Amino acid sequence: MLKNFWYACELSSAITSKPKRVTMLNQEFVLYRNSQKEVVALNDVCPHRGAALSNGWVEDDCIRCPYHGWKYQADGTCIKIPANQPGVPIPKRARIDTYPVQEKYGFVWLFWGDIPEKERPPLPSLPEFGAPGWRAVYGQLHWNTHYTRVLENAIDISHVPFIHVNSIGSGIADQPRIEEYDVSIGEWSGSATVTASQSNKTKGFWKTILSKQGSRPLSVTLSFYMPNISRLEFGFSIGHFRIILFIIHVPIDDRTTMSKWIVLRNFITVPLADGDARKRALKTMLEDKPIIESQNPKIIPNDLTSELHAPSDNLSIAYRKLRKKCLDMGWGMESHLSQSDYTNSHVAEPSQDLAIAKVF
Ligand code: FES
Ligand SMILES: [Fe+2]
Repeated sequence: MLKNFWYACELSSAITSKPKRVTMLNQEFVLYRNSQKEVVALNDVCPHRGAALSNGWVEDDCIRCPYHGWKYQADGTCIKIPANQPGVPIPKRARIDTYPVQEKYGFVWLFWGDIPEKERPPLPSLPEFGAPGWRAVYGQLHWNTHYTRVLENAIDISHVPFIHVNSIGSGIADQPRIEEYDVSIGEWSGSATVTASQSNKTKGFWKTILSKQGSRPLSVTLSFYMPNISRLEFGFSIGHFRIILFIIHVPIDDRTTMSKWIVLRNFITVPLADGDARKRALKTMLEDKPIIESQNPKIIPNDLTSELHAPSDNLSIAYRKLRKKCLDMGWGMESHLSQSDYTNSHVAEPSQDLAIAKVF
């Protein structure tokens, strides 16, 4: 896991005044909204006896532990130990880690790291979100693998005629060559544009509009933002129609990812067509799922020479290089698993690990 980035963890609409547990980055967080409607994020472990605060409740904008009722302010300081006699001081160590949060694009983002505010890598910009003429739909998909594999899949163009031969890749099924492309690299991002042919199997709502595109080329811009966000933009040559697929690949733990996505479109923006847009995104990701979950090791290697690369992989290589840069800066947080545990030859399933942890 990489520290010092903003991580989207939940839909804004899912966070209320009732504490909610969020599992991410190999740890548990508790989130709630105070009376000002601001989101508060804390570590979900009470320092007294380790109970989950997410089973407690919010009172005077503070959170109460459900076990012995200790009361914590939003800054993590304990201000009440109900069992104490009057005058007994509260230990200084009775405090919980808290995390900066912000809300954007319909998500709550939590900053996980230790660098000052000014140095924090910014959130990617998504100007189409909320802009007139654009419509957004949300969805999510669970993957049994490390987020780095899921992200790389989202920015990988050369798999499309193979995995997606019956859907978005049907237009290029017989011409799998990828033209040479340039990668533009930012401080925390990379991006490339290629042209492709449109699927000749477009059905449903979009067919009426996109069939006018005919065999004219489609421009596809693939981007990544460190460490776990991908963005695909499809630009049609008719009507300035565009589709943007913005995906946050939330790292739940070392072998589990939850991709939370927004599909934005600037055509057929009637709500009636939302289900159709959602279904298309999900169908494509479900085609990828068995292959991506089969990759071994589950995490992309830190060393560029461990796997082989073709020119069409240049965008993935840029991602791997930026990731290596973060690791070299000391931003890699120790994993719960050893490198060999990332492989598919493990004996214990995560659920078994969990069961053992509970017993001991
Ligand atoms: S475990 Fe939280 S108050 Fe005791
Ligand atoms: Fe795919």
